[in-house]
Amino acid sequence: MKTNTFRGRDYISLLSYSREEIETLLDVALDLKRKFATGQPHHLLSDKSLFMIFYNQSLRTRNSFEAGMTQLGGHAHFLDPGKIYAPALEGDEQAYSTERIADVARTLSRMGHGISIRMYGQPVDWIYGKANQIVNEFARWSDIPIINMECDKYHPCQALADLLTIKEKLGGFRGRRLVMSWAYSPSVEKPLSVPQSVVIAASKMGMEVVLAHPKGLELDPEVIRACQVNVENSGGSFQISHDMQEAFRGAHVVYPKSWTSMENIPPQTAKPEMEKTEKLFQQHQDWICDKAKMDLCDGGAVYMHCLPCDRGFEVTDEVIDGPRSVVFDEAENRLHVQKAVMAMVMR
Ligand code: CP
Repeated sequence: MKTNTFRGRDYISLLSYSREEIETLLDVALDLKRKFATGQPHHLLSDKSLFMIFYNQSLRTRNSFEAGMTQLGGHAHFLDPGKIYAPALEGDEQAYSTERIADVARTLSRMGHGISIRMYGQPVDWIYGKANQIVNEFARWSDIPIINMECDKYHPCQALADLLTIKEKLGGFRGRRLVMSWAYSPSVEKPLSVPQSVVIAASKMGMEVVLAHPKGLELDPEVIRACQVNVENSGGSFQISHDMQEAFRGAHVVYPKSWTSMENIPPQTAKPEMEKTEKLFQQHQDWICDKAKMDLCDGGAVYMHCLPCDRGFEVTDEVIDGPRSVVFDEAENRLHVQKAVMAMVMR
């Protein structure tokens, strides 16, 4: 019988982890957070290596993984796809410029203990699902765990940090109303990965989840179905609203952020039609998180955002710099939860 359900596992989506396993990861993260705060060594991954492949920019993810591996006694390698032979799916290869993922994954598996990948948007020509396919192709060929540092469908490291933050601030999940809301941004290029992972995580943990967005900004129907199944199992609830103010009423957690329209990117369209998304966004500039909306929430409500945020558009300075904002706790918790994931799957 397997006694350790974590060692060697990929961490690509929270859909593959049970509520009990997520609770275990949160417990380990809290333990590592205490050890970090009190200066106790916790070299659980001494001499181990993580290979981090970043197709997109990053502040929090890159630095929390690098610092986390150092604190665990190992090392994280930063790999720029433009400076290696860019890993490519069979059929997308270009001679001496790319390398088939099957070969990259098997090579790195001989040298280290984990591979992590960030990829969404432009590097996959905005073909929704293709970055997730690439992450899964790594998992198919790798002998060492694959960690998703954000693809076009999921950002499970962010969602785990968000759960830890909610647990710390509100004491638990059940009976707490979380509103994942779209918010306006002048950029139409933010992926769907954060809202999709947040609603999956919150519904799995039994929260009262409200997804709020204007029409035309729906999440992936597969994710919606997964949330409906999650709440049947967890005893929470899941609703969709098209009214930001109404959604905020009585909320304990609000998480307003922008995401692009799935309707205007492949495979729904032949090519990305971002100008259509820009027009849609323009009609909803009032979807901003301001003090008036925060005042509709429960008195102890917290404001969350994965960062980076577009100040003055997604949220006012008054809210993000105000007493209800927990955005830097979320950012810090990226470090602690990722250390927990790495320590559990890369041992
Ligand atoms: N939230 C998040 O993933 O931040 P970065 O894009 O800075 O990594």
